[in-house]
Amino acid sequence: MPHLRTIVHVVGARPNFMKLAPAHAACAQRGVRQSVVHTGQHYDAVMSDAILKELGLPEPDVNLGVGSGSHATQTAQVMVAMEEHLGSATPDLLLVYGDVNSTMAATVAAVKLGVDVGHVEAGLRSGDRSMPEEINRLVTDRLARWLFTPSRDGDENLLKEGADPASIRMVGNVMIDTLVRLLPIADGERELRAFALQNGTGPRPFALVTLHRPSNVDDPEMLGRLFGALDGIAGQLPVVFPVHPRTRERMRRFGIEGGRVSLSDPLTYLQFLGLQRHATLVITDSGGVQEETTYLGVPCLTMRENTERPVTVTVGTNRLIGRDTGAMRREVDAILAGRGKTGSIPDLWDGRAAGRIADALA
Ligand code: UD1
Repeated sequence: MPHLRTIVHVVGARPNFMKLAPAHAACAQRGVRQSVVHTGQHYDAVMSDAILKELGLPEPDVNLGVGSGSHATQTAQVMVAMEEHLGSATPDLLLVYGDVNSTMAATVAAVKLGVDVGHVEAGLRSGDRSMPEEINRLVTDRLARWLFTPSRDGDENLLKEGADPASIRMVGNVMIDTLVRLLPIADGERELRAFALQNGTGPRPFALVTLHRPSNVDDPEMLGRLFGALDGIAGQLPVVFPVHPRTRERMRRFGIEGGRVSLSDPLTYLQFLGLQRHATLVITDSGGVQEETTYLGVPCLTMRENTERPVTVTVGTNRLIGRDTGAMRREVDAILAGRGKTGSIPDLWDGRAAGRIADALA
């Protein structure tokens, strides 16, 4: 790998920021000159600004201000803005994160200008091309020069697709770097009080929910069924659901209400982590939450047919439930009866993944 003088990091959406933070810190420690471009894909104060602040990241050097839109619109706008930005500041390397539209769009723009791209969280595959994230992963990995994988399955997927073995580095999970660093201060005290989840001796049993994937929230019948089941679970234990803006908008449009579920606005990273560590179980369709619960040893029910993070199932505490809300209720009963899934922490999910990336680069 060549010696790098300048790196531009590109981030756009909430799950990118937790991955950027450790990579940015590790590059700074090694004296790499770097700047951060925020595409503006996520723009709400709590989806973006508050989280950046909690993670100790500097204000992005540039905000492309792209905002919401159809996939093609969002992707195209990031490409146009990125091309313009790279015209005035050509780095040695662009580092991109995860699988959001901004990741793929920035990669395409950079590679066409002859700028090398490093992909953090490379190689993950759900095998499900109906997910926009899967398309973003395939395109980004095909074009990126350096592929930093979180787990062995990532290396295997890339090799199967014909990637150059010399471009692949298994570094571990950068999202877990951030979790390891911030867990000591994410005690959850304030959040447990706010949701009335404290009793005299400590946290009460509760379920924590996040759902925002199109396959769960864009179809009124499915979203209605999910809320019906969650309401039933809320008859057994408190259910806390910080609602993603996309889900909030669909609920409004379809006239679906929360019933006995405690709904809130999206939480910051520290607030959510503080709740997650104390949860009896988590119900989700998020990729990052599947990983965090595995690290924390909290049973996780994933409302998807597949996962691009299979180690959370084979090694960790994750169970794939699909779209079957009856199965979801049965699994919740099993967990409450003490038969929840236990697991261990995957290799190299040790809080030092970003250091490995920076060592490889510097
Ligand atoms: C994106 C990512 C997804 C990730 C998720 C985490 C893609 C293809 N998807 O999905 O992988 O899990 O972020 O949050 O990139 N909105 C706001 N405020 C915001 C951002 C979005 O109100 O700050 C609303 C808008 O109505 C928008 C909708 O949420 O249309 C969806 O946002 P978008 O960024 O397109 O995708 P996500 O569903 O958030």
